[in-house]
Amino acid sequence: MADRPTVAALCGSLRRESWNRTLLSATAALAAPRLAITEVPIRDLPHFDEDLERDPWPPEVLAVGEAVRRADAVMIVTPEYNAGIPGPLKNAIDWLSRATPAGGAPIAGKPVAILGASPGMLGTARAQSQLRLILQNLQLPVLPGPNVFVSNAPSRFGADGSITDEATRAMVETMLDRFVAWIAQVGGEAAA
Ligand SMILES: Cc1cc2nc3c(=O)[nH]c(=O)nc-3n(C[C@H](O)[C@H](O)[C@H](O)COP(=O)(O)O)c2cc1C
Repeated sequence: MADRPTVAALCGSLRRESWNRTLLSATAALAAPRLAITEVPIRDLPHFDEDLERDPWPPEVLAVGEAVRRADAVMIVTPEYNAGIPGPLKNAIDWLSRATPAGGAPIAGKPVAILGASPGMLGTARAQSQLRLILQNLQLPVLPGPNVFVSNAPSRFGADGSITDEATRAMVETMLDRFVAWIAQVGGEAAA
């Protein structure tokens, strides 16, 4: 593991003005002394199709897979769509759960933290429980306990994208402290 653990961050929203990407960036900024968090864009992944799992593999699949494989951990920041996780995120997880020519499933064994932001009151709670079930099925060590739920998202951030709401910032800081300890406890299998 490098001096700071590296974290591949997946954003479930493809939208330019996404609150979830704002949360991802603000979390990465707060984490910087302890964790190197980098978004791995999932926009260009093709729809999952077993017929594509043959030479030549789609380069986008290999690129996303290797970025996740190289990381020590994964952070998923996602909106809730119709009480579940967005299609592009499920698609990315399906690809990452598959062995590639470069090795086993890129996401295998990675510690995962879950965050979500919504303009509504529930703060992605239903999507997060669905996501936990999916990740549990992959036998991934998901950071236990409540992670980060941001409700009323537009009121929590400043114009520069930083977290201006103190309770939200404290929730993210607490999660980061726990995630650093969790990665040290259960991680360590990532490639160099
Ligand atoms: C198809 C669709 C379904 C949605 N369903 C929910 C929902 O079930 N729960 C919720 O809190 N917000 C729901 N929303 C509102 C999203 O939380 C909101 O659009 C949010 O800003 C999306 O995240 P983003 O800002 O990161 O793109 C839905 C939005 C869309 C487009």
